[in-house]
Amino acid sequence: MNRIKVLTVFGTRPEAIKMAPLIKEMKSREEFDCKVLVTAQHREMLDSVLKLFNIEPDFDLNIMTHGQTITDITSRVLYGCEEVLDKYTPDVILVHGDTTTTFAASLAAFYKKIPVGHIEAGLRSENMYSPYPEEMNRRLTGRLSTYHFSPTKTNRENLVREDISTKNIVVTGNTVIDALLQVVKKDYEFEDEMLKSIDFENKKVILLTCHRRENWGEPMEEIFRAVKSIVKENPDTHLIFPMHLNPIVRDAAKSILGDSDRISLIEPLDYEPFANLMAKSYLLLTDSGGVQEEAPALGKPVVVLRTETERPEAVEAGTVKVAGVKEEKVYQISDRLIRDKSYYESVANAVNPYGDGKASIRIADYLLYKFGILNKEIDEFK
Ligand code: UD1
Ligand code: UDP
Repeated sequence: MNRIKVLTVFGTRPEAIKMAPLIKEMKSREEFDCKVLVTAQHREMLDSVLKLFNIEPDFDLNIMTHGQTITDITSRVLYGCEEVLDKYTPDVILVHGDTTTTFAASLAAFYKKIPVGHIEAGLRSENMYSPYPEEMNRRLTGRLSTYHFSPTKTNRENLVREDISTKNIVVTGNTVIDALLQVVKKDYEFEDEMLKSIDFENKKVILLTCHRRENWGEPMEEIFRAVKSIVKENPDTHLIFPMHLNPIVRDAAKSILGDSDRISLIEPLDYEPFANLMAKSYLLLTDSGGVQEEAPALGKPVVVLRTETERPEAVEAGTVKVAGVKEEKVYQISDRLIRDKSYYESVANAVNPYGDGKASIRIADYLLYKFGILNKEIDEFK
């Protein structure tokens, strides 16, 4: 039997989380010869996900350096991928989302005339500097790709507007929901002593994540000042911030939020405890893409610490509020969610515009269909 040679390429924490269920799906089917290339644009944060999902990379470019620029990442990934593509000669490569790994790997494949399948295709903020550089990475990856796996109908419409042929777009849902459903458990117990000691019944736990490049400097400082006031003014709250490993983020967080009562600055959490912490929290404050998709599925209100979002679906559903990055606005929106119970309850609805847990199956089926192995159209995510 002729197997399809698929090379999945990723490098950061969120890509790994969102690619893991798809890798598992493809490895379970004999039609695929599925290999994994990690760029290791992230090192520790990537390795923790690989370990959780038992993924052993076949190729590891190990490119991360501290203080890396996006040019560093682009050039190292481009050179590294070229070598692996020559060695493995895949029929198709699969990339995910909007990171610089994603864009550079797609470009490397294009140079070799190897088709690219883009997972999480078609999200658009319409502002090329926000998220930066991700909006442009995602657009360029879209141009370089042959197959487009869009999580939602809106994402497909964005691609159609850009003259991408509808016959190569399929609406699959987001694989992040596949991953989330695998790790969130009702009776989950934390191993970490600090998390174990939190009284989730009687405290309003606010979970913060913040890392985006366009927020470095003044916007991030405004966000942290707002957060500090929110906790200070609401004695029934406890804020937990698993800090991204980027020193720019950590230095700002420590200088504004360090040594505050009821604020825990902690190391990044592995995905399993993090997802379960989301499920037990009262409110999420975040500039992350993935968290905006996961928290609504868990019925948790999200305050987005950005000026716009390329994920409008949960905003329309009401669970996500886009606050921007100004201190006063972040404070006001979050404070209302904490103090006004009926408002909170009107917002805290479990909605799932991003997926039904079957995205990986659809993506694998679609590839088999396109490569002439499966003779049936895909039942798209609605
Ligand atoms: C990257 C992606 C961003 C994604 C984010 C997810 C780009 C340009 N940015 O941003 O789209 O949302 O990952 O978290 O592709 N570091 C470590 N260990 C790690 C990870 C990071 O020490 O495991 C430190 C290093 O000093 C590194 C720095 O963080 O240089 C920044 O990492 P980088 O990948 O360049 O940027 P992120 O902000 O993580
Ligand atoms: N996440 C995690 N541990 C943490 C913080 C986040 O496992 O301490 C997960 C989160 O659930 C989501 C993903 O990491 O799936 C988001 O990653 P990040 O915010 O770094 O990137 P983005 O989604 O903004 O690209």
